[in-house]
Amino acid sequence: MTRTAAPAPTGTDDPALDVEGLCVDLSTPLGTVRAVDGVSFSVRRGRTLALLGESGCGKSMTALSVVGLLDPAARVTGGAVRVRGSDTLRLSPAERRKLAGPVLSIVFQDALTALNPVQPVGRQIGEAFRIHRGLSRREAREKAIELMTRVGIPEPRERARSYPHQFSGGMRQRLLIAMAVALDPDVLIADEPTTALDVTVQAQIMRLLRDIQNERDMALVLITHDLAVVAQRADDVVIMYAGTVVEKGPVRDVFSAPRHPYTQGLLDSVPEHAVRGRPLPAVPGSPPELSAVPPGCAFQDRCPLVRERCVRERPVLRPAGEGRTTACHFAEELTHA
Ligand SMILES: Nc1ncnc2c1ncn2[C@@H]1O[C@H](COP(=O)(O)OP(=O)(O)OP(=O)(O)O)[C@@H](O)[C@H]1O
Ligand code: SF4
Ligand SMILES: [Mg+2]
Repeated sequence: MTRTAAPAPTGTDDPALDVEGLCVDLSTPLGTVRAVDGVSFSVRRGRTLALLGESGCGKSMTALSVVGLLDPAARVTGGAVRVRGSDTLRLSPAERRKLAGPVLSIVFQDALTALNPVQPVGRQIGEAFRIHRGLSRREAREKAIELMTRVGIPEPRERARSYPHQFSGGMRQRLLIAMAVALDPDVLIADEPTTALDVTVQAQIMRLLRDIQNERDMALVLITHDLAVVAQRADDVVIMYAGTVVEKGPVRDVFSAPRHPYTQGLLDSVPEHAVRGRPLPAVPGSPPELSAVPPGCAFQDRCPLVRERCVRERPVLRPAGEGRTTACHFAEELTHA
């Protein structure tokens, strides 16, 4: 293991994060199942990539694999996660920990569980500076107060002494964002960062994320159920189904002319998919259990275009126009009104 987390120069066109063929297996009482199967995507600095798909399709598993925080029941069994020229999956745990904060960072949905309930928030936010930059407690505290100011916490100097439960849900989410961006990561992953909040606060948090992303030129991987957020915020979208990528491409193109029946179903079920704060709409039926994904296409039981080949042969991702891919045998038959 010779590579370390030391910054390596990257060309402006190089992705800040490049995930290739990621596979994650999960141990269950019924045996091992594949929860993430060959997922690939990449995102450059300053750009936003959305991961979209129904509950259980593997979005969080993908995110947790990228940042090295998978549950012990799950294991990465294949693929590469490249940042700054290194495949993080091949780094030692110590080398990998050095990336958490300055290179890769994550904001979770549930701020209350992500924060330590018995430690003042200023100390928690400042910790990154102590660990990674060797600052004194006092210096770290000043940095924490700066960050709290930036994310919009009123009276930050006083509030730094408060505990997580003394903040509202929206304010806690701001604190998590402050912690996540403390060390100026190249890549920020936000796993449903607003779903626990009311609609007005959701919009404020999304604006804060956008502004901080722009200031720091971060790559953002945004995991969301909200089609409107994807349409408004993301440059590219990766649509997942049963652990696989079924369609990928620039949001504008994918949403205006989907090349996979699942994407089309998602869009058709919200004709006015510009409404904020909506959960992902239902496509009739439900995804297969991971232990019972059929041979052939995983979407076959819900697909209006299904035919014999779909049952027999699993579709693989293939080009479907400029910068786009789809995993459907019959993508050419899709036209969007
Ligand atoms: N710790 C775990 N133990 C067992 N199964 C798990 C665990 N975490 C996730 N799973 C299973 O792995 C699959 C992928 O889950 P994941 O959390 O990645 O989905 P998701 O797309 O993030 O869903 P959601 O939108 O509900 O957050 C699901 O079938 C889920 O039930
Ligand atoms: S491969 Fe067949 S079943 Fe799968 S999405 Fe395409 S048409 Fe539907
Ligand atoms: Mg999730």
